[in-house]
Amino acid sequence: MLWTRLAREPLDGGGMPRRDLEIEWEVAEDERFAKVIARGPGIATPLFAHSVHVAVNGLRPARWYWYRFRSGKHLSPVGRTRTAPAIGSSPDRFRFAFVSCQDYQAGLYTAYEHLAGEDVDLVVHLGDYIYEYGVRSGNPVRRHEGAEVTDLQGYRNRHALYRSDPHLQHAHAQFPWMVTWDDHEVANDYADAAAQEPKSPDSFLKRRSAAYRAYYEHMPLRRSSLPQGPDMRIYRRAQFGDLVHISMLDTRQYRSDQPCGGAIQPRCAEALSESQTMTGPAQERWLLQNLDRSPARWNIIGQQIMLAQFKAGNGAEALFNMDAWDGYAAARARLLAFMANRKPSNPVVITGDVHSSWVNDLETNFDDKTSSVVGTELVGPSISSELPPPFELAVEAARADNPHSKFFEGSSHGYVLCDVDRRRMRSDYRVVSDVTTPGAPVSTLASFEVADGRAGAHPG
Ligand SMILES: [Fe+2]
Repeated sequence: MLWTRLAREPLDGGGMPRRDLEIEWEVAEDERFAKVIARGPGIATPLFAHSVHVAVNGLRPARWYWYRFRSGKHLSPVGRTRTAPAIGSSPDRFRFAFVSCQDYQAGLYTAYEHLAGEDVDLVVHLGDYIYEYGVRSGNPVRRHEGAEVTDLQGYRNRHALYRSDPHLQHAHAQFPWMVTWDDHEVANDYADAAAQEPKSPDSFLKRRSAAYRAYYEHMPLRRSSLPQGPDMRIYRRAQFGDLVHISMLDTRQYRSDQPCGGAIQPRCAEALSESQTMTGPAQERWLLQNLDRSPARWNIIGQQIMLAQFKAGNGAEALFNMDAWDGYAAARARLLAFMANRKPSNPVVITGDVHSSWVNDLETNFDDKTSSVVGTELVGPSISSELPPPFELAVEAARADNPHSKFFEGSSHGYVLCDVDRRRMRSDYRVVSDVTTPGAPVSTLASFEVADGRAGAHPG
């Protein structure tokens, strides 16, 4: 999918005429467009904020291409993208980066400046692409342009503000992206039709419609993700030959409400209830079927909130995050039991949401030290979001009660580089030293490897 949007006044409704505009697109085999191999017309319509989504067919697999758009006398900057390896092929190597959580007010996108220079085939975004909040009090690094966004115009302007960042633009122009959302693309900790604050489902679904629509408009999504009112199918699968398959999950649209009052709580019976669902039954069946039928050596599951258990304290007093899979323990147990019994090849879960870096063993019973490891979870740091100060200390204090959690670091920002071959998957946690002043350097915080056929990551 090639994507662009026409906007003369991006922060104020777009500033475009209220009619369809014709555009042209071109795809070339070289950066200078000497060998244009596809071109065609397109329409930018005010119904979708003059965004343009072009599906180009007939390209060759596993190749870089360059593309641009023309509208009247305006020529867009040049973007680069890459096609996936062919379905039946056996690539030796596939590299991708995964990112999440980019609160504009919390910091600069220096991580994207460095990511744009990395050698990857794909960028995977795991959600919190925008934050819906109003202007932060105190002294934010940058400012949102107004109050908390709740309607279509507001969400469109917010996406446009985020996209005005040159490093984010450049990272989009360097690689294909595969995106899914978390909560802040709509509202903090929402669950299906329920807002965090009690509001009528009717008014929340109206808000969700506006947010989903603006998200579709601003992302390189296929027509299969076209929103229908408050509904939008974003969970989907991508195949990179027989080496890597990615199942991208949506853990917001179909989930049961957070149990036990939400947030960080001792676990009540509701958190263990069989009826608590994170994915909804249809997406759960789809995921298990993907894993069962996949011929891929590495089966990546891209999703939002932490899958591994994490408890602070012991016994009935132990605290769990009710927004994460700990509030949906029976649904998690089904997924992990499936991994234990059906043994899909090398399941690796990649996770965002918690603004911190983790490596976790996935076990069928996290409280049983003899339980076998059935998969691996890599949790990536945020691009620029903040953590409430007690979080890091609380996690450090509880590390000993969570031996399946192999690594934690809670103060850095960055992205995770994954280098996959037929023998192992290597992950480098790449972090910048600071997001408040421009030009911070990038370095590798930690590296882990998962060996083919052996679940669990080890320092590499
Ligand atoms: Fe976030």
